[in-house]
Amino acid sequence: MMKVLKDKLYLVALAAAAIAGVVGWTQWFAGAPAHSDGAAVTITIPALSAEAKAGQALFEENCMTCHGPHATGSDQGPPLVHRIYEPNHHADISFILAVRNGVRAHHWPFGDMAPVDGVSDKDTLRIILYVRELQRANGIE
Ligand code: HEC
Repeated sequence: MMKVLKDKLYLVALAAAAIAGVVGWTQWFAGAPAHSDGAAVTITIPALSAEAKAGQALFEENCMTCHGPHATGSDQGPPLVHRIYEPNHHADISFILAVRNGVRAHHWPFGDMAPVDGVSDKDTLRIILYVRELQRANGIE
């Protein structure tokens, strides 16, 4: 009888330890850095063409608050130097439409992007040149 009780206690202790282990693991996992708040990436910054430099100035004025310095992302918007935005997946027209019409959140947890006033299609084309040069220098093409 005593022996059976001891065995039972042993099993209960084992189960408790297993649960504690799982909970601990889940908490550790949840705390691991995820791309949920700061999506920022580290990139190589190339020597830019004159056109891309003009785009950089426009980008810094109109896009950087959300897309971060050199389009590396911030806590308010995603990096554009990212596989998701390679030319095959997000062609130049998607940049023009994003600036004209805004973007409904679909890839990231940052919320919608509002249309950006005061940036012409021509300005956006310069910004695209800048972003594409950054992308190419980081193997995204
Ligand atoms: C107020 C913040 C904010 C500003 C300013 C902003 N963006 Fe965005 N942008 C976002 C967010 C957030 C997303 C991601 C939406 C998603 O897919 O979840 C995004 C997505 C995009 C996309 C992807 C579009 C698509 O089809 O998925 C492009 C391209 C883009 N932005 C370009 C720009 C350019 C160029 C500028 C400056 C002229 C700019 N953004 C300014 C917040 C911003």
